[in-house]
Amino acid sequence: MHFHVVTLFPEFFTSPLSSTMLDKGRERGAIDFSVIDVRDFAHDRHRVTDDTPYGGGQGMVMKVGPLVEAIESAAAGGARPRRILLTPRGRVFDGEQAERLASESALVLVCGRYEGVDERVSAVVDEEISIGDFVLSGGEPAALIVIDAVSRLVPGVLGCAQSAAEESFSDGLLEFPQYTRPAEYRGVAVPEVLLSGDHGKIARWRRREALRRTLEWRPELLERADLDDDDRRWLEELRGRGGGDG
Ligand code: ADE
Repeated sequence: MHFHVVTLFPEFFTSPLSSTMLDKGRERGAIDFSVIDVRDFAHDRHRVTDDTPYGGGQGMVMKVGPLVEAIESAAAGGARPRRILLTPRGRVFDGEQAERLASESALVLVCGRYEGVDERVSAVVDEEISIGDFVLSGGEPAALIVIDAVSRLVPGVLGCAQSAAEESFSDGLLEFPQYTRPAEYRGVAVPEVLLSGDHGKIARWRRREALRRTLEWRPELLERADLDDDDRRWLEELRGRGGGDG
């Protein structure tokens, strides 16, 4: 998977893209990045990439020309990668979208800045994604979140093939609780079952705890989770005890 990031702030990505998982993924040849500086596509010697809005109003708007040309430069000559604009008005990003994007061979992530982006940029992107119902000062942190969530689903990025599959949301539930040594800390002991060595029992306990947490903290996820009869019986029991905390 090749991520092309189009931004006015290339330096924003230097440290995060060289952090452990992403750098390991790159070393393994599973992912790669290129950061494209919009200013390199400015049309004047002052490298101007924004301007005042037509019709008046506060703030500056990113100019269409430099941005479109920067987007088009990504993988120019090769297959056209899927183009995504990060914007608070986009479809809200979630695990399902991460999986969908992980099946692409390349993505162009376009970071908007300032008060907005010339509307004509929308015509050259394939979709618009938001990372939540709040406004960031720019699309850069959002692009990093998409890169992180998508990368860990790309085969070869995580050391252990299982670890992405077992986590929260991959089966529509929150993750079960995890513990490591010591077996007791400040009077709180690790649940007995985890020390039992009985893998069947442990798997069943983990499933039940994942269901309990989901019922308690994110009950709406249960409507779309993949549940069997055992799961449903356990949820009934928990609800009978008065919710997920019983
Ligand atoms: N740019 C500004 N706010 C954003 C958000 N919530 N998601 C994606 N890009 C953004």
